[in-house]
Amino acid sequence: MIPTTRPMLIDSHAHLDFSQFKPDRDRVIGRAWDAGVSKIINAGTDLASSEKSLALAQRYPAIYATVGIHPHDAKTLTPKTLKRLSKLAANENVVAIGEIGLDFYRDLSPRDLQRSAFRQQIRLSIELGLPVVVHDRDAHTEVLRILRQERAHRVGGVLHCFSGDLTMAREGLEMGFLISFAGPITYGGEKKKAIAGKIPLESILVETDCPFLTPVPRRGERNEPAYVQYVAEKIAEIRGISFEEVAEVTSKNAARVFGLKIS
Ligand code: NI
Repeated sequence: MIPTTRPMLIDSHAHLDFSQFKPDRDRVIGRAWDAGVSKIINAGTDLASSEKSLALAQRYPAIYATVGIHPHDAKTLTPKTLKRLSKLAANENVVAIGEIGLDFYRDLSPRDLQRSAFRQQIRLSIELGLPVVVHDRDAHTEVLRILRQERAHRVGGVLHCFSGDLTMAREGLEMGFLISFAGPITYGGEKKKAIAGKIPLESILVETDCPFLTPVPRRGERNEPAYVQYVAEKIAEIRGISFEEVAEVTSKNAARVFGLKIS
């Protein structure tokens, strides 16, 4: 039974391995398919989460994994961890290195370790020929500088849950990055909405970043991949185009950057 006739969406960034989904993970995933989500990219945040992401991807054919050490956990990136990530990334279900980057808002790892972990993992992605999924919070200038210095345009990737300005978005596009929007576009400021209206649709992805950042009209609930539709609806509204067009193009974009086959 297909309860929806709307075109399929790809949730380009989820954390289904997190403990918030422990009680009902299978049901959450089932609801995603019922809501018209065709694929989910599950992002690793540390070594254990990367391993769990890969295990999910091996269990569900329409889930793919990224492996990487989040800036919060940058202090855990040892040479041994890097080696293990590299091994995990050799699996065909792993489609990117991430999420990696800088978080100068919460500063849960010292900034010099964040920078070093970010650089080492970009180098790993280039070595493996995989795109990177970038987390950036209050570190726009440095994120761009490191991506440039490490020549990340060779692999490209995604600026996930984008929070920069239009200039940053355009610099990212020039380096071969796509811009991904999550729930905040449904409740955040006008600036973010303006960016989603001004950059080419061919450079946009939609994501939930679940269990966090629940979009309107589900604020207050735990977020889940089924709710990526609200992000896509908002982008359609901002751009004055149909939901169908947003779904079709953002799915193609996700397939392109992550090397997925879509029918
Ligand atoms: Ni995330």
